[in-house]
Amino acid sequence: MIEKKISSGSARTVKKFKLNTDQLEIGMFVCELDCPWEDTDFLMQGFTIDSQRDIKVLQARCRFVYVEIVDEKCIEIEKRATGSPVTIKKRISSEKVNLKKQRPLESEIQQASHSYVGAKKAVQSFMGEVIRNKSIDIQEARAVVSDCMGSVSRNPDAMMLLSQLKNKDEYTSQHSLNVCLYSLMLGQRMGLAGHELETVGLCGMLHDMGKLRTPIEVLNKPGKLTDEEFQEIKRHPVHGREILLSSEKTVDQEVVDAAYMHHERLRGGGYPEGLTEVSISFHTRIVTIADVYDAITSARVYDGSRSHLEATRILTENRGKEFDEDMVIRFIAGLGLYPPGSFLEMTNGEVAIVLENHSTSRLMPKLLRVMGADKTLTEERIIDLADEPRDEAGQRYAVASVLPQEAYGVSLKAYYQRGLFANISHL
Ligand SMILES: [Fe+2]
Repeated sequence: MIEKKISSGSARTVKKFKLNTDQLEIGMFVCELDCPWEDTDFLMQGFTIDSQRDIKVLQARCRFVYVEIVDEKCIEIEKRATGSPVTIKKRISSEKVNLKKQRPLESEIQQASHSYVGAKKAVQSFMGEVIRNKSIDIQEARAVVSDCMGSVSRNPDAMMLLSQLKNKDEYTSQHSLNVCLYSLMLGQRMGLAGHELETVGLCGMLHDMGKLRTPIEVLNKPGKLTDEEFQEIKRHPVHGREILLSSEKTVDQEVVDAAYMHHERLRGGGYPEGLTEVSISFHTRIVTIADVYDAITSARVYDGSRSHLEATRILTENRGKEFDEDMVIRFIAGLGLYPPGSFLEMTNGEVAIVLENHSTSRLMPKLLRVMGADKTLTEERIIDLADEPRDEAGQRYAVASVLPQEAYGVSLKAYYQRGLFANISHL
């Protein structure tokens, strides 16, 4: 066994081991194969082994792999951006994080949809208050987050699926809500629960309120920004902090910090202050990853959307440099290889939408088949790859490739509006 220390600091150490594939265990993070990733079916360059089935897939393709193990799961933040040096310790005990889904997607989706619609309206209302120079009702915001948290805790895939219902014209409100949902999902995986998890969701929901003070023509400018315009954009965390501090009711320090620090990066180089690892709060680190992922995968007025694969590649490449390494690993593991809402082409040419990932066999999600092999719409049918189905020719029915979102003109929103997601238990 070869041990290679890849990073260390006062907080934790990540070690990289070379293992034969018959030595693999569930829970290990595979960071490198003995062959190019491009030659395999794995969509992400790095993932956590969730089941014996994952191990079998690796054994079929590789003789050995490299795994990374975080041996000290303690992040120590020695001072806060506000100046006074305090020590915050967050113990992350993955053993204690119960990620078992409490409810099947079929039962959760309807309630999740209700919470999602309510939360979206609430975010738009908070934005309206900020625009009118009124303060945000923090108690109401917390209640909205609490509602979303309930759903994410029961089965995160329902909210992850709804987060894919994107509308370019509603980017800011949708982004705020999605960052809230992703922060809840990651917060849960980092061992947070109850009030603390709710706070991290609130951090996500309110992180970008400062953008409402940025001139809209600068915010939505399609071309390259001038230096002056970029300076204007870089002021939004400062505006965000001011907005939250001017609230009638006291806002949690974590929420203010996340609004102020979410564009800071671990090794400096972020804005508004260029803070480094020791100063960036735990909650902010979660929100930053959620923010970057949603921004990359969403179409904005000035930029098209990029794929899940591209977003996870950017996060993975910059983990430990810009983004918290352990959090990136857990975030990607939480979304899975094929996040809910992904479009897939199957081995027989059919097109399907991912509904849900199984925590025990992440490479075999539950799908909604929407198109036949001839790429025409067909009667929708739920197919669970964990059941190892066969196609009409008797061949194994599996994922052939990931398609761009809404490939072949298939609209996720149309299925949602038809109530199909709410009624998937009847399919
Ligand atoms: Fe921002």
